[in-house]
Amino acid sequence: MKEISITSSFNIYNNLEELPIDIQDLMRQAIEVRKNAYAPYSQFRVGAALLLDNGKIVIGSNQENAAYPSGLCAERVAIYHAGSVYPEAKILKIAITAASDTNQTTAPIPPCGSCRQSIAEYEIKQDTPIEIYFMGEIGEVYKSASLKNLLPFMFDKKFL
Ligand code: THU
Repeated sequence: MKEISITSSFNIYNNLEELPIDIQDLMRQAIEVRKNAYAPYSQFRVGAALLLDNGKIVIGSNQENAAYPSGLCAERVAIYHAGSVYPEAKILKIAITAASDTNQTTAPIPPCGSCRQSIAEYEIKQDTPIEIYFMGEIGEVYKSASLKNLLPFMFDKKFL
């Protein structure tokens, strides 16, 4: 028997204002689109903004459904839209923010497992790391230099 260990590292910014100016702009777009979340069931609003290598910014917010599993997370709304409109573009950076209508989220809110798997697909396809920044409504912003930090041991096409 042997043991392996996998480490993940993140950068932590104290607040939005501490981010590089281009990321602040990306995060502000995520905050703006968060308001368009359709979240009558969870009252939990998530916004995502993607910067592509063609300079375009693609945004998305979570869209819920009375049949709960039919809803979709903000991150996947945005990345599938980007894949549909700009199929050749690489995703360079993703900014994510989440806020509850019922309490203030101060902890950085990471993407869920399904979104990590979806982002992984694009990172592998484009063979370029995707920087991921995530925060709550206020407070610290975490930066991951690649999706791999968030999803070690990822399942991908090489196993098929
Ligand atoms: N949600 C996202 O949009 N992204 C995530 O990564 C986690 C969860 C949404 C789904 C649902 O509409 C609400 O947040 C509560 O789970």
